Amino acid sequence: MADRPGGTSVTPPTGHTLAFTRSSDQDDLPHATKRYQYIHQGALIATYADSANRKMADHLRKFETMFTLTPQRMRMIVEAFKDALETGLAKRDQVVPMIPTYVFGWPTGKETGNYLAVDLGGTNLRVCLVTLQGDGKFEITQSKYRLSEEQKQDDGQLLFDFCAECLKAFIDLNIESGVIENDAVLPLGFTFSYPCSQDRIDHGELIRWTKGFGAPNTEGHDVVAMFRKSLEKLSVPAEVVALTCDTTGTLIASHYVNPKTKIACIFGTGCNAAYMEYVRDIPKLTALNIDPNAEIAINCEWGAFDSFEHEHLPRTKYDLVIDETSNKPGEQAFEKLISGRYLGEILRLIICELIDEGVIFLGQNTYKVEIPYSFDTAFLSLMESDPTDELLMIIGIFTHFFALETTLAERQFFRALAKLVGRRAARLSACGIAAIVSKMGYLEEGCAVGADGSLYNKYPGFADRVHEGLQDIFGEKGRNIVTYHAEDGSGIGSAIVAAMTKIRKEANLYNDL
Ligand code: GLC
Repeated sequence: MADRPGGTSVTPPTGHTLAFTRSSDQDDLPHATKRYQYIHQGALIATYADSANRKMADHLRKFETMFTLTPQRMRMIVEAFKDALETGLAKRDQVVPMIPTYVFGWPTGKETGNYLAVDLGGTNLRVCLVTLQGDGKFEITQSKYRLSEEQKQDDGQLLFDFCAECLKAFIDLNIESGVIENDAVLPLGFTFSYPCSQDRIDHGELIRWTKGFGAPNTEGHDVVAMFRKSLEKLSVPAEVVALTCDTTGTLIASHYVNPKTKIACIFGTGCNAAYMEYVRDIPKLTALNIDPNAEIAINCEWGAFDSFEHEHLPRTKYDLVIDETSNKPGEQAFEKLISGRYLGEILRLIICELIDEGVIFLGQNTYKVEIPYSFDTAFLSLMESDPTDELLMIIGIFTHFFALETTLAERQFFRALAKLVGRRAARLSACGIAAIVSKMGYLEEGCAVGADGSLYNKYPGFADRVHEGLQDIFGEKGRNIVTYHAEDGSGIGSAIVAAMTKIRKEANLYNDL
C-alpha cells in the first residue's frame, strides 16, 4: 500500500480494518475506483496493491524469458535465414522471393534531370518532383496524402485511380507555379512497396498484399499496367519508366550519397531489405543471358521469412493471435514480429491478458484498450523515452487514449514490457542483416547499412539494439556493420532508379529488361 498515495484505512463495526487504496496516483480524480482489502487485527495481510505488484514482477520474469533472444538462438536464426536467401535466389516462387529488380549496379552520382516519383507504401501516398543535379545533389518538392483504411480494402483499380488523381493535382500545381513546364511528359519512378515478381523494370505482378492492405483484383496483376491505365484515363502527363520498392530505392539513394552502403533496410509499417547481388549468384536468372559479372539489386522481401512453416522464429502466443486474426494468416511471419504495424498490438494483447487475469486495471472500464490495434506502436516509443520519474508520459497515454488510471508500479511494468517487445524486434532485425552480411562476406571489410522507417527513426534505442545484436551474433567484428539513417529511398531513390533506367535503355543495355 505504501506505493499508492491516497491509501488510507477505516475501522468498520465488524472489528476488521478495512483498508482501501485508490487506483490512481492522484487523490482527487473523480472516477478513481476504490479497492478494498480486509486486514485482520494483528496480522498484516498483503494489500491488493502489494499482491498485484508481486504478480506483475512474476509476470515480468515470464515475459523476459519469452521475449529474450540469446546469442546462440540468434545465430541459429541467421543460418536458417541465409538458407532462405539462397533458396530464393535459386528458384522462383520461394517463401523469401529475393526479387531481382532489374536495377543494374550502383548509380554514378552523375545522374541528372527532372523526375516524378509516386510512393505507395503503407500509411501515406506521396508524390514528388525530384531534380537530380549530379554529384550526389538533388532537390525535392512533394505532397503527401493520407490513405484511408477503406481505400486499402477497396477495389485495386480505384487505388491506382487515386494515385493518378493526386499526381495530376500535384503536376497542375507545379505547372501553375512554373516548376514544371506546361507540355512536359516527365519520366516517373513508381515506388510500390509490396512484393511484386518482376520480369522487367517496368512490370511487377503483385505476389501478395502486406501491411494490412487487401484491395481486391490486384494480387496476380501487373501493378504498372494498372497504374498506367489510371494515368491514361486522367490524361496525366507522366511516363512510368521504373517500378521500385522502398528498400531498393533506399539502397540506391543511400549509395548515391554514401558509397560505402551495401545494404538498405526499412523498419516501418513493414520491414524489408535490399542489397546488390552478382548475376552469377542468381541461378534463377540464368536463362536471361545477362553478363554473370553484372550486379543487380535484390529486393529480398525478407518480411516473409519463416512464413507458413514457422520453423525458425520464436513466436509467443501473442504473435500467434496476431497472425491468426490478420487478413493474411501464415504470411509475413518475420515482419509480424518486427514491424511498426504489429508491435503495439503485441503489447496490447499482453495487457488484455493481464486484465482478464485480474492483474491490472481491476474495477476500471477497459473497453477502449480491448479494441484491436488501438495501441499504436508510437506509444511504445513514447513509453520507452518517458524521461520523468513518475512516468508522466505513460499516465498521459493511458488516461487520454484509454481512460485508464495507472499506478507507478503498473507504468514501470508497461515500460519494461515495451522494452522487451522493442528489443526483440531489433535483435531479430539484426539477424536479417547478419544473414545478408554473412552470405555476401561483408563482415571483414565492414559495411554501411542505410536504414529508414518510423521504427528505426523514432523508436529510442532501436539502432543501438540492432548494433548490440550484431555484436552478439558476430562478436567484436559485429562492430564493422553500422546502420545509419538513410536517404529518402521512395522519393530520391525512385528518381535515381528512373534516371539509371533511362540511361541504360539509351545505351541499349538489356533493353527488354
Ligand atoms: C512490406 C512490403 C515490402 C516493403 C516493406 C517496408 O514488407 O512487402 O515491399 O519493402 O513492407 O515498407
